[in-house]
Amino acid sequence: MKNVITNPFVTGGYAGPDYFCNRTEETRRLSDAISSRRNITLISLRRMGKTGLLKHLKHQVENKSKSTAVIYTDLLPTMNCNEMLNAISTALFRVRRMESNFMERMFGLLASLRPRLTVDALTGEPAVELTVESSSEIKTGLENILRLISEIKQEIIFIFDEFQQIARYPEKNTEAILRSVIQAYPLIPFIFSGSSKHMLENMFMSAGSPFYQSSELMYLDRIPEEDYSVFIKENFGKADMEINDGAILRVFKWTRLHTYYVQYVCSLLYEQGAPKSEEAGVNSIFHRIMTDFEPQYINYRNLLPRHQFSLLKAIAAEDGIAQPTAGSFITKHDLTSASSVTTSLKSLAEKEMIVLDNDRWQVYDVFFSRWLQYHYGPGDNGK
Ligand SMILES: Nc1ncnc2c1ncn2[C@@H]1O[C@H](COP(=O)(O)OP(=O)(O)OP(=O)(O)O)[C@@H](O)[C@H]1O
Ligand SMILES: [Mg+2]
Repeated sequence: MKNVITNPFVTGGYAGPDYFCNRTEETRRLSDAISSRRNITLISLRRMGKTGLLKHLKHQVENKSKSTAVIYTDLLPTMNCNEMLNAISTALFRVRRMESNFMERMFGLLASLRPRLTVDALTGEPAVELTVESSSEIKTGLENILRLISEIKQEIIFIFDEFQQIARYPEKNTEAILRSVIQAYPLIPFIFSGSSKHMLENMFMSAGSPFYQSSELMYLDRIPEEDYSVFIKENFGKADMEINDGAILRVFKWTRLHTYYVQYVCSLLYEQGAPKSEEAGVNSIFHRIMTDFEPQYINYRNLLPRHQFSLLKAIAAEDGIAQPTAGSFITKHDLTSASSVTTSLKSLAEKEMIVLDNDRWQVYDVFFSRWLQYHYGPGDNGK
């Protein structure tokens, strides 16, 4: 089959090892944990590459051993226990559906939850819907799903992406139920993943919470500059294009080496198709990005309370700030008082507009940060 991917810089999803940069060590660490049947929790900033890494791991593991299946469940869209069970059952069903009688067995075991087979309207993929009415039904449902899995004559690895989501469900005992069911199957390795460092650390590191010390924590950092640089050059090279070191360095600085943003800038640059990319070409891409996203940023400006927006501007203008309640910062940016900064900071962090990155508060969305800096900052943006 002809390769249909024309731009090697993927910005949505996983497109195979050829389009995936590095992460060799990280993949090995995850595989080692799986082989030793240790649970592991992957944590990073948003858009740093957790899902990509998990899909890469799935690809590697399933390629290496045909008798292993990875069940990947994304919990982000789920809002309650019932939806969580639907997501898990759907993920399991999609992996096993080619096996004869699987549906009969699965639906038989889950009969009390009235399983229904539906079709995703957009992708055409099958989905399973259950009806849960009490927390005892959630427990039974989970137990049956795991029993079904343990009976499968295949190595199974379970991945829960955006795991912190379960702490947001209205049902308060989800963690305890999930933990007690999972504990009964020590041979099945679980990988948890998510971007809310604070919530995940609370779940796995505070004594008294059900998942306390049940999993090792792994923090996913930036891809090292040297490796990313080779990856970028190689991919431009394959299309007979060149990008020089100055241009690459400029991209890394401007994007804070944050994976999604590096990929996005590179994909536009690649699409432009210039035989040689230098700093000037990269700058024009930055300008285009800021213009493209501007309506969205103006919207944020209109929606956010004045003080919160002022704090965002100030954080962006400083390109991150370690101590936002310091007198000098407050005076310089007219932020009224330390207590109002504390209130706005909390509110912006809850909305995920800002994040603590390497001990500095930063505007979370890098492009938005650069736009703010460009319009309200002291000149240069990341040179
Ligand atoms: N190693 C990599 N090489 C190339 N591209 C990558 C790599 N890792 C991730 N990406 C790309 O970067 C983007 C962001 O990655 P991904 O979605 O995996 O991040 P995430 O940490 O799961 O984010 P979120 O917390 O928002 O779910 C994706 O478009 C993905 O294709
Ligand atoms: Mg993700």
